[in-house]
Amino acid sequence: MKIAMITASPKVGKSASSILLKECKTWITTHTENSDTYEFVEIVLNKPIIEDSVLNKINSCDVLFFSFPLYEDSIPSHLLSCLVQLDQTNQEHVIDLKNKYVIALVNCGFYEGIQCEVALEIMQHWCTHTESIFIQGIGLGGGGCIEGIERVPVGVSVKKVLATVYSHILTVLAKCDLSLSDKNTDAIPGDNQYFSISMPRWLYLFSAHRMWKNAIRKNKRIA
Ligand SMILES: Cc1cc2nc3c(=O)[nH]c(=O)nc-3n(C[C@H](O)[C@H](O)[C@H](O)COP(=O)(O)O)c2cc1C
Repeated sequence: MKIAMITASPKVGKSASSILLKECKTWITTHTENSDTYEFVEIVLNKPIIEDSVLNKINSCDVLFFSFPLYEDSIPSHLLSCLVQLDQTNQEHVIDLKNKYVIALVNCGFYEGIQCEVALEIMQHWCTHTESIFIQGIGLGGGGCIEGIERVPVGVSVKKVLATVYSHILTVLAKCDLSLSDKNTDAIPGDNQYFSISMPRWLYLFSAHRMWKNAIRKNKRIA
């Protein structure tokens, strides 16, 4: 099964979305017995237009796994533009989104993953519209610290919850794989799941405030 691992943060270079996707890929590969089960295609959507070569890559995959940040309780505008382009090219039969599986992992700066609910609903509507199959939505709160804790192993300390998140995605993918071979698309979709990073809320807020104050001091020095 071919999976498009789509990093859709507008940031150039490293982002919480890219780190989560990379870790999830490693988790899937190391927790799957047969290494041929999944083939990954890495895609970065950080601009409002998708190039033809990238469209072709997306088209060649069975699963579209989007990882992106929450912006203003919604999806980043460049991603919205990409989704519109995908829809248009689908309607023009340049690509075929029908029956492709879609997973959305949204991370947000707030502590509570439920903040991502509306963004996941937007993705669900897009899937209904394009006749793709939304199989799993995940909202992860505490995304602001993902870059800072990149070196912490998954499943340990503040990243304990990520083992649960990635295991859940793996279970969903395994069901997709079965469904692909059985041509049975009814069995899959699960309810959206919401998580927070594994640290107390007060500690997350305290760390975030300290980080922002340091950034302000640094900017003042530069100005
Ligand atoms: C323009 C902008 C809008 C944002 N809006 C929200 C928001 O509405 N709710 C929230 O919890 N976080 C919000 N955030 C925080 C990001 O979702 C958070 O920092 C995320 O971890 C960034 O992920 P990335 O590194 O993958 O881009 C916003 C950040 C930016 C830059």
